[in-house]
Formats: sequence, structure tokens, C-alpha cells
Amino acid sequence: MNSRKIKVATATIRKKAVAKQPKTETVEVEEYNMSTTEKKKILFVASESTPFIATGGLAEVIGSLSKALAATGNYDVRVVVPLYSDIKKEYREKFNYLGNVYVHLAWRNQYCGIFSCEQDGVTFYFIDNEFYFKRPGCYGYFDDGERFAFFSRSVLEIMPFLNFYPDVMHCHDWQAALAAIYLKTNYCFKPEYQYIRSLFTIHNIEYQGQYSLDILSDLFDIYGKYKYLVEYNNCINLMKGAIECSERFSTVSPKYADQIKDPYYAHGLDPIIRNNAFKLTGILNGIDDISYNCALDSHLFANFTPDDFSNKAVCKAELQKMLGLPQKADTPIISMVSRLVSHKGLDLVTNVIEEFLQDDVQVVILGTGDKQFEGFFRELAYRYPDKLSANIVFNGDLSRKIYSGSDIFLMPSKSEPCGLSQMIACRYGTIPVVRETGGLYDSIKPTVNGYTFANYNAHDMLYVLRQAVNDYKNKEEWLKLMYRAATTDFSWSHSAKDYEALYLEMLK
Ligand code: GLC
Repeated sequence: MNSRKIKVATATIRKKAVAKQPKTETVEVEEYNMSTTEKKKILFVASESTPFIATGGLAEVIGSLSKALAATGNYDVRVVVPLYSDIKKEYREKFNYLGNVYVHLAWRNQYCGIFSCEQDGVTFYFIDNEFYFKRPGCYGYFDDGERFAFFSRSVLEIMPFLNFYPDVMHCHDWQAALAAIYLKTNYCFKPEYQYIRSLFTIHNIEYQGQYSLDILSDLFDIYGKYKYLVEYNNCINLMKGAIECSERFSTVSPKYADQIKDPYYAHGLDPIIRNNAFKLTGILNGIDDISYNCALDSHLFANFTPDDFSNKAVCKAELQKMLGLPQKADTPIISMVSRLVSHKGLDLVTNVIEEFLQDDVQVVILGTGDKQFEGFFRELAYRYPDKLSANIVFNGDLSRKIYSGSDIFLMPSKSEPCGLSQMIACRYGTIPVVRETGGLYDSIKPTVNGYTFANYNAHDMLYVLRQAVNDYKNKEEWLKLMYRAATTDFSWSHSAKDYEALYLEMLK
């Protein structure tokens, strides 16, 4: 890094800024030069991350993308998440207490403890406040707005304490939207914060963080003059605010980036997306290919490789035994590992599944969700005990046994920002049947690694599903398809590079 003597206003001094200095004077500053070999500093702000706390795909992406970026050696990657009481003791025992600060939010002044730990080359920070986070689960409380406002504000407030000002603050989903908003409204005028660029990633546009405008200043501490940034349809809309305030925003597949410009997919935000399309990018998620490796995964009944799938038969037989299904080697198992909610395509499934169950097939369901779907599958399992197994639970171990022991994986989502399950299924030689939407469209290609259908139509789905079941009988061709699916590169190697390119572009 070069040094030179220049006359500057204190507000432009980055590294050696001293707040009390007079307005202008000659000081030595380190020139801000992006071409230096110094590691770029990336701070992920998110409401969950593997391995510590996970309720869905977001956590997997935070955990695995941060690790992949750190592994390039080009980045100092750090992640901030809340310290929920659900974070297991085995992890907490490894956390170091760094200290605490007090965080102002309108009239509130709240304790904010800071814990940290290193994991796979990434530094994780945990924001501790028992009033907000000592509760079961991560979301679903009446005061979620306040909880994540506190969290987002804390992210900016701990920077001086840590003496860590990132080059890019990468915020994920509405729970972290306020970090990008506060940066623009309250912090970017301070010298230390002025070079922080923010990137906002939408993992699911359905959840936008919408609140009454009445609590704009009292709860979110946003001044009236900034109301225009977060106001949308007479409400506060935090996702909209983050899109407006961030330098760039992205979503988790190229197809979804295109789709959210359309009212059908945008849950009301399409005008905002279209207006800001010039700063939108779609980058397909990857998966952790070390964790999801059929040769090494200790959760499986037996391990196998794309070159030798013979032990997959063991996984299948043991799965059938475990779930109380007849142990028939040649009857295909079609599985779904999914939240049981409408946009995952459950309406299509409930429509035609009885028709499908007349064929020589076995169906395995794993997941929780809407009571209506949970009840539907429980009842169906009761009526078709030899054909359908309904596991209305969230169980990581069983999910891997299902991915590896099935033949076909069904994912008929109505909308799907990216979807990770179809990639995981592929890694275990289980052939996805998906609807062509979002990341499903970008990751699964007919005749290459799976089957697809275009329209959100139950009988279109059934037609393609039956085609797959029929092709399954041709063992030789099916094995080749399994090989191609299992060897499709879903690692982060491509996508991490796309994020790197995006960061560098933002830092120009
Ligand atoms: C959300 C999306 C899912 C995506 C995941 C990770 O859960 O619904 O499609 O794969 O985030 O980005």
C-alpha cells in the first residue's frame, strides 16, 4: 500500500482517520488502492448460517459460500449472525467472548455482547442480546421487526469495536436489509464507513419485511427525510429499502433474476426490481460438495461413487426397511424432501398422487409445513402403507438417507429462487424431476441430468414423472444418467468466482 502526503478533509481519510483533527491539515494517509494485493474484507450479514443455526437453504449458502470465498485466499471473510438460544452447546463452548457495546435504536439503548469463533477459515461473530434472541427458533415473533433492526444496527455498531470496516458488506434477505439501509441513512457520512459498499442478496422475494409506517422512527429509527427509501404501498418494506440503498443487489439464480421483474413472481415488488434492474445480478448457488459426497457421507447406510453405484442398492433396501416399505429393488422410489407449502408445488402433487400410486412405485415424503399438506400425506400413508411413507419431521440425517436411497427426486416448485435439494439429489445419483423455474431451470437440463416440465400443471408433471419411471427400467441408460447427474459440477467453484467478479466491480 502506497503512502503520500496530501491535503485532505478529515472525512476522506480512511485508515488513519482521527476524528478530533481539524477540518483540513497535512497528514500522512495510506492511499486507497484497489489493485493492492491486500485481502479484500467481506462481511456477510445474515440471520442464519451452517453449521451453527439453520432453518433452510439460506443458512447453507451463508456457511458454504463464505467458506469457498475464504478458500480462494483473496478475502478476509467474516459473518455476523444473532446468538440464538437454539445454537447448540457444542458450538457455544468454542465461542470467545470479545466484549460488548451498547446499541442505540431510537429511544432504546440495548446491550450487545459480541462472541466469535473461527470455522473453515471464516470468522463468525454472534450478536448476543437475551431479550431478543433467547427464544426457541429464529423467526415468527410479533417483534421480529425490532429484533432484526437491533441485529442490523449492531452490525454497524460493532465495527469500531472490532476495528473492522469491510470493503463489501453483503446482506442477505430482509432480516439483514436494515444493515444496508442504516449504512446509507446514518453511517456512510462517517469517515470509517464511507468506503463500505453494500450488496443485498434476495434468497426469496416472498418475505419482504413489511411493517406499518407508524413505527418508522419510533422502532426502526429512520428519519422522515429517508421515508421515501423504505416506503412502498403505504407500508415500510425493508427489502425495497435495501434494494434502493445497496450499490448492487443480486438473487440466487440467473433465471430468478429475470423472473422477479414479472408480477407473477415478484410478490408486488416487480416495479422496484425493474427500476433497479441495472444493478441486479443472478448468481446460481453452489452446494458444499465435501459435505454432500456419496463416497464419504457417514449418514448413509453405505457409501458409493459415480463410478460404482452398486452400494446405492444397499441404501435403497435399508431405507425401505427403515420406513416400512416392501424391499423391492426394481420398484423406483420417488422422494420429496421439502417444506410442505404450496409454492413448492404441493398443489400439483396432491392433485395427481393417487393416480400415480396406482403404478409400480414407492413415494417417500420428508418435511413439515402447512397443516393441510401434513394431514394429506399422513392420511395417504395410512391408506397406502406399502406405497407411501410420510415423514412429517425436519431431520437432516434422514434426509441424506432419502437422497441416497431414492431413484427419482421430485421438485415441482411453482417458484424457486435457486433450490439446493435438486443439486444434492444429483450428487447422490438420484434423478431430479423439476419444474422449469428459477434455479431449477438453471441447474437441471433434460437428457443431461434430469427431467423437466414447463407449465404449472399437475398432469404435465405426471406425464414427465411417468416418463422417468419408464426410463428407469432401461438400466444401462439410467446408469449413464445417474453418472452424469452425480458428476455435474455444483460446487461453489464457478459461483464463488461470479461473486468475486461482482465484488471487484463494486470496488472499482
Ligand atoms: C431460499 C430459497 C431457495 C434457495 C435458498 C438459498 O430458501 O427459497 O430456493 O435455494 O434460499 O439461496
